[in-house]
Amino acid sequence: MKTSAAGTFSALLVVGYVWSALPPPSHVTMDSVNVKHMLRWNPPKALCATPLLYSVQFQGEFEATIRAGTWLNSSNCQDVTHTYCDQTLDLGSDSDYNIRVRARCASETSAWARLSPPFNRRDTVLTAPLMKVSTVGDALLVSFEEAPPTAYLEVEVRQSGDTLHQARVFAILAEEKLLHVFDLREESEYCVRARVLLKQLRSQNSQEQCVRVTGPHVNWEGPVTAVLTLLLMAGVVFAALWCAVQWRTRRHSFKESPPRLLLLDGPAPAMPGQPKEEVCANMRVVHKDRRFQLGHNAYG
Ligand SMILES: *[C@@H]1O[C@H](CO)[C@@H](O)[C@H](O)[C@H]1NC(C)=O
Repeated sequence: MKTSAAGTFSALLVVGYVWSALPPPSHVTMDSVNVKHMLRWNPPKALCATPLLYSVQFQGEFEATIRAGTWLNSSNCQDVTHTYCDQTLDLGSDSDYNIRVRARCASETSAWARLSPPFNRRDTVLTAPLMKVSTVGDALLVSFEEAPPTAYLEVEVRQSGDTLHQARVFAILAEEKLLHVFDLREESEYCVRARVLLKQLRSQNSQEQCVRVTGPHVNWEGPVTAVLTLLLMAGVVFAALWCAVQWRTRRHSFKESPPRLLLLDGPAPAMPGQPKEEVCANMRVVHKDRRFQLGHNAYG
């Protein structure tokens, strides 16, 4: 009897093995950071001539209880070859979600592998915000990298040496990404740290960053020096140009003015310009006459 029972059991095992030749994916986990939900799994240890394909389904509390346990297809993750699925858009409410994934090799499908325990997006992990702190005149400018939409950024600003109790606390919408802090003491160091708040969730604090507020005059120094240098250079260039023009005008008047004055005064001496003009006039006249004569000769 005993041996026969054992035989039946091993026969069942063999049948079971044959029936589900393709094992399901393993190690199904949800990696949810900053409200971005990424389902991941390991591929089954199976040989497949074609790439293994994976499909993901999910059900919220509504589908699980009211709609008699129906499953919804994750629209982005049907017959995909990669071993992850971005379910950020699938999981649209703060309810517990059952999630499952299965593998397919050609016409052969595996059993479903279920995420355990179910996932609730309230379990997302918020990372400390990435920020840059700089000064603009006597104000602080704190700028942030991408944070989840609808989240808040809580920013603590304290003068170096003050305790955290004395810090000024600001809250801005994560989408704003920028915070100006005015009314600061010049020549003082200020330290800033921030965290992300989303409903009842909060991230770790960012690393504290300290900057020295030097005051508005420092910011003016650069531009003013630049403008003064520019004006000075323009002045030098203008002066040089003016000198050059003056020098040329003077040279011209030395060359041409004295003869004119002499012409007006009395009998002109032999000028280098005058005979030349006469020669030119004569040549032109001669030239004209010759053409006229040539024309006559042609017709005559
Ligand atoms: C999910 O996808 C499968 C296969 O593509 C299909 O047969 C099934 O009807 C789909 N289910 C829903 C609820 O759309």
